[in-house]
Amino acid sequence: MVDAWQSAMDHAVAVARKAGQVVREALSEDMKVTTKSCSVDLVTLTDQKVEQLIIQSVKEKFSNHRFIGEESVASGEPCVLTEAPTWIIDPIDGTTNFVHAFPFVAVSIGFSVNKQVEFGVVYSCLDDKMFTARKGKGAFCNGEPLQVSDQTDIKQAIIATEFGSSRAPETVDKIFCSLRNILSIPVHGVRGAGTAAINMCLVASGCVEAYYEIGIHVWDVAAASVIVSEAGGVLMDVEGGEVDLMSRRIVAANSKTVAERLVREIASFQPIRDDAPPLKE
Ligand code: IPD
Ligand code: CA
Repeated sequence: MVDAWQSAMDHAVAVARKAGQVVREALSEDMKVTTKSCSVDLVTLTDQKVEQLIIQSVKEKFSNHRFIGEESVASGEPCVLTEAPTWIIDPIDGTTNFVHAFPFVAVSIGFSVNKQVEFGVVYSCLDDKMFTARKGKGAFCNGEPLQVSDQTDIKQAIIATEFGSSRAPETVDKIFCSLRNILSIPVHGVRGAGTAAINMCLVASGCVEAYYEIGIHVWDVAAASVIVSEAGGVLMDVEGGEVDLMSRRIVAANSKTVAERLVREIASFQPIRDDAPPLKE
């Protein structure tokens, strides 16, 4: 099976590159922007087109594989992770950035077998950085090995996070409560690139010590999760303990020390899980 997964990974890299080119070209064209769950949850025709491009090309080579894709789920496909080989796709991570030409946009492709992410490909397409990792084989950016930062004192750290797309007052309050706690540690700074996948690749690259967010989806983080672990980092739930990629909560850090210190300051809450059964009308 080893070679089968390697050829899947090679395919993921090739199709992510092709998808990235479509995204770059679309930046200079007229965009048709619509919304999904709320007025700040944006989607464009390019998101849908790129997801179809990836799924079609995978189906041609790996006809029995399954898919979880952001836009397919938005159009009613189930979001269920089984033991089967499954491609977990975010065609554009950072759609709001894409719409505003804010220069961090990624194509994210994770591949899971037996519910474990076997490899991840995150193509930061505006700066042409191809982040890749395969379980047990290290993490790379454009072929160069990645290593997390060795800073374990959170007071010397930069922490990445995002505000997400919920504007429910109780959620916004929790987000600001966590930020206040973390800034007051004090940390060196708080940053956010506007894409979960790139934030996690920044952890893997050693530029920030940790990233956390509540409200992300499995397609935002699946690929980057293996990139962080293969670069020497750790993944954790926002309340500590094991991460669950379907739970919509994640901490990705350079070390257990930083992750455990961070979770003490996060005001946690539980959004509806990605694999929750659809609400009855
Ligand atoms: C979003 C981005 C954003 C994060 C959201 C994600 P999308 O993904 O990763 O940084 O704050 O939680 O949903 O919608 O651009 O694919
Ligand atoms: Ca997306």
